[in-house]
Amino acid sequence: MNATLSKAFEPAKLGPLQLKNRIIKAATFEGKTPDGQVTRELIDFHKDFCEGGVAMTTIAYCATEPDGRIHENMILMTEEMRDPLTAMLQELHATGAKVSGQMGHCGHFSKNKKLQRLKRPLGPSRHFNNLGMMIGRPFAGAMTEADIDYFVNSYYEAALFMKDIGFDAVEIHFGHGYALSQFISPLTNRRRDQYGGSIENRMRVPLRALQAVRKAVGDDFPILGKMGMFDAVRGGLKEPEALVVAELLDREGIDAIITSGGTSSYNPMPMFRGDSIAPGIIKTAPNLFSKLLVKMMAPAMFKDMPYEELYFLDGHKRVRERVKNAQMVYVGGCHTMESLEKVMAEGVDFVQLGRILIKDPAFVNNAMAKGEKYRSGCTHCNYCVTSIDLPGGVHCILNAEDARAS
Ligand SMILES: Cc1cc2nc3c(=O)[nH]c(=O)nc-3n(C[C@H](O)[C@H](O)[C@H](O)COP(=O)(O)O)c2cc1C
Repeated sequence: MNATLSKAFEPAKLGPLQLKNRIIKAATFEGKTPDGQVTRELIDFHKDFCEGGVAMTTIAYCATEPDGRIHENMILMTEEMRDPLTAMLQELHATGAKVSGQMGHCGHFSKNKKLQRLKRPLGPSRHFNNLGMMIGRPFAGAMTEADIDYFVNSYYEAALFMKDIGFDAVEIHFGHGYALSQFISPLTNRRRDQYGGSIENRMRVPLRALQAVRKAVGDDFPILGKMGMFDAVRGGLKEPEALVVAELLDREGIDAIITSGGTSSYNPMPMFRGDSIAPGIIKTAPNLFSKLLVKMMAPAMFKDMPYEELYFLDGHKRVRERVKNAQMVYVGGCHTMESLEKVMAEGVDFVQLGRILIKDPAFVNNAMAKGEKYRSGCTHCNYCVTSIDLPGGVHCILNAEDARAS
């Protein structure tokens, strides 16, 4: 293996955390946590990546508070989850890998029937709750100052808990249309107070969340942040303001920035590229009404986007130019050894991999053994994305077909 490529497989420090290589499993919501419970399937899913050689895996959607869940099947970072989460972390740590948790809050889009504080989800401003149509809650309200304090504090409490039970890092989700990105985006934040208007004002709540997490975990614990470089929705966040987002996160002392794009609830395809997920989503919709709804929205929401390797690299490099201290993590279409070599040559600190690890959880070990010749076999068909809602959760159709044939 040439020296540039082998850099990916050498030890490196993420902030204060020593990792055995530069490859991190990206957060991919697993669909293996019915009613928010830790299951054998969830542990095994991550254990496969850890045993397969990644330096760190990421548990997706660690909800900071009950009403921050899109639906009931997301794990809450609260005391009642201490024992099962601790047991899971111990089992994953026994493989020698580290474990991060992606801190999530859905803000204004939710189909959670068990909202606890209010009868409707809350975001920065009043908003249409497109997921809520399925459960008769088509509108979301605007957070008051007190709601914002509660919301920010949920990041503090969750981070305190996550460090205490043994997570090695936390990843704050600032992108993909979730709550913090709803504050960042001019489309969804129409507030007229100190939290709305200029990008600096729209960043106040996200920065408060980052400060709260830092206060909870201290300086010797890595905080990653996944940010959007654009919303891919008319009137949404665009790159010039995203560059300011990166500067502000960096100035606030975030350890590492992951660059992504697109929005889960309105235009997710730019996040993955490849085959449209519309047919799969229609197929897995729970009832006729939802199927019709998705069918109506699909042409606008899930436009085909031809797959390209390293589709976020140019934007990532422009973000990096504005970042002085934070390390940079690349995610998005790094599906070949050539691409891995290229991001290493670009000086990227870490790479997050999603789909190719779902196809080949032992990617790191296999790549180290086979070098430049290795191919994962991921075809970016995006079946894994739509498998989230299938029984058993996220899996690769190619692997399932192989298993059936053998
Ligand atoms: C099945 C699936 C679920 C995903 N869920 C999440 C998620 O929970 N949080 C997140 O930030 N990104 C999520 N993503 C996006 C990935 O983290 C990643 O940004 C994207 O897949 C591009 O990387 P890749 O080309 O290596 O797959 C998901 C992707 C997939 C395939």
